Amino acid sequence: MNITVFGSGYVGLVTAACLADVGNRVLCVDVDPEKIATLKAGHCPFYEPGIDSLLVRNAKGGRLDFTTDAARGVAHGEIIFIAVGTPPQEDGSADLQYVLAVARTIGQHMADYKVVCTKSTVPVGTAAKVREALAAELAARRLALPYDVVSNPEFLKEGAAVEDFMRPDRIIVGTDNARALDKMRQLYAPFNRNHDRVMAMDVPSAELTKYAANAMLATRISFMNELALLAEQVGADIESVRRGIGSDPRIGFHFLYAGAGYGGSCFPKDVKALIRTGGEHGQSLQVLHAVEAANEHQKQELFRRISAYLGSVKGRTIALWGLAFKPNTDDMREAPSRVLMEAIWAAGGKVRAFDPVAMETTAKIYGERADFTLVDSPEAACEGADVLAIVTEWSAFKAPDFARIKALLKTPAIFDGRNLYDPAAVQAAGLHYQGIGRAR
Ligand code: UGA
Repeated sequence: MNITVFGSGYVGLVTAACLADVGNRVLCVDVDPEKIATLKAGHCPFYEPGIDSLLVRNAKGGRLDFTTDAARGVAHGEIIFIAVGTPPQEDGSADLQYVLAVARTIGQHMADYKVVCTKSTVPVGTAAKVREALAAELAARRLALPYDVVSNPEFLKEGAAVEDFMRPDRIIVGTDNARALDKMRQLYAPFNRNHDRVMAMDVPSAELTKYAANAMLATRISFMNELALLAEQVGADIESVRRGIGSDPRIGFHFLYAGAGYGGSCFPKDVKALIRTGGEHGQSLQVLHAVEAANEHQKQELFRRISAYLGSVKGRTIALWGLAFKPNTDDMREAPSRVLMEAIWAAGGKVRAFDPVAMETTAKIYGERADFTLVDSPEAACEGADVLAIVTEWSAFKAPDFARIKALLKTPAIFDGRNLYDPAAVQAAGLHYQGIGRAR
């Protein structure tokens, strides 16, 4: 099939590369000429395992191309994906201007039947707005061309996006139209061999499913984080509690890890947007208000602990392992590390940080500062630092030489925001150790 993907960001590129890899001819359209030039030169603008080889292989094979020419994009695709950004606005609502601009562009250039598919995470009701925007342009051209708007939310996890796309656990297709559903089934057939993963539903249900999934996961995390703080108070160990409750199949083991708070581009944004949608319909989503507040509190937790331990962080240096909001990505959006670093700086402390891939992104955000040093190994971060804080659970941090860390730190202590170690083992090595919700 001929497919067009508007928006060469994370979601757009993964979608495009994976669809091309199974034999479709995919054209990616982006307004940013620099991004298109980078992609044409065979480079991916972000870090994601497996994406580079997919992009190169399919571009070479003539199945994947990149352009800034929107008219060409509209002419090319029988199915057109809208995968442009929906950044949060001040009030928490998603900014739909880029999504609607693409809808108008399609309306301005289309000449035959199109299935227009919203792939960006968009609030309930967006497909209807896309339909209106497109219809208005067709009306201005005095044309009555056929088209369908489908909601096809993505459920990719950063760091595992290619795998998630190639082996989806569900393919949600929101549509009220049999012709569009049929096209979508054809498109996804290569990913759907052994079990039928396509779930057809009405458009609002598909749109709400996306938010419901992320909000549910964020709720689990915030609940575990609150329980972890309580566990410390009552002398319990959250890891034992996690195993204890996870073994109930109704609860399950996934997304029950207490930590330094959830970050990333999705959970914080989607929880806010769903609260906002509730508000627009006169409903206060009370659970989600609490989920958000608990997460804000949790992101400050490492700073509170370090400050309490040292008395004050003024004039102190904190070694920091992990900057990205989670492993296997260089994404720093809403990363808990930022809250910690900014709190340390505001209190007059310094940070020496290491991350396997996110240091370049971090340097771009904060620039040169006297109170911030990026170093090239976990050990180098500890050199001359007072204590060590761990914010991201990269594999490289999982089996460190505790004796060496002890020798390097002035006040040998580890504040582990991801519960990587057995507390007894670290303490036996002579370091003070605080995990999140671990028995002391
Ligand atoms: C999330 C969802 O997991 C995907 O299904 C969804 O498609 C995506 O958002 C999206 O809407 O685009 P992602 O943000 O890449 O994916 O990352 P997650 O692996 O879900 O992690 C989110 C945050 O939760 C991270 O900061 C992570 O450290 C934290 N987390 C996760 C915990 O604190 N505890 C856990 O048990 C799991």
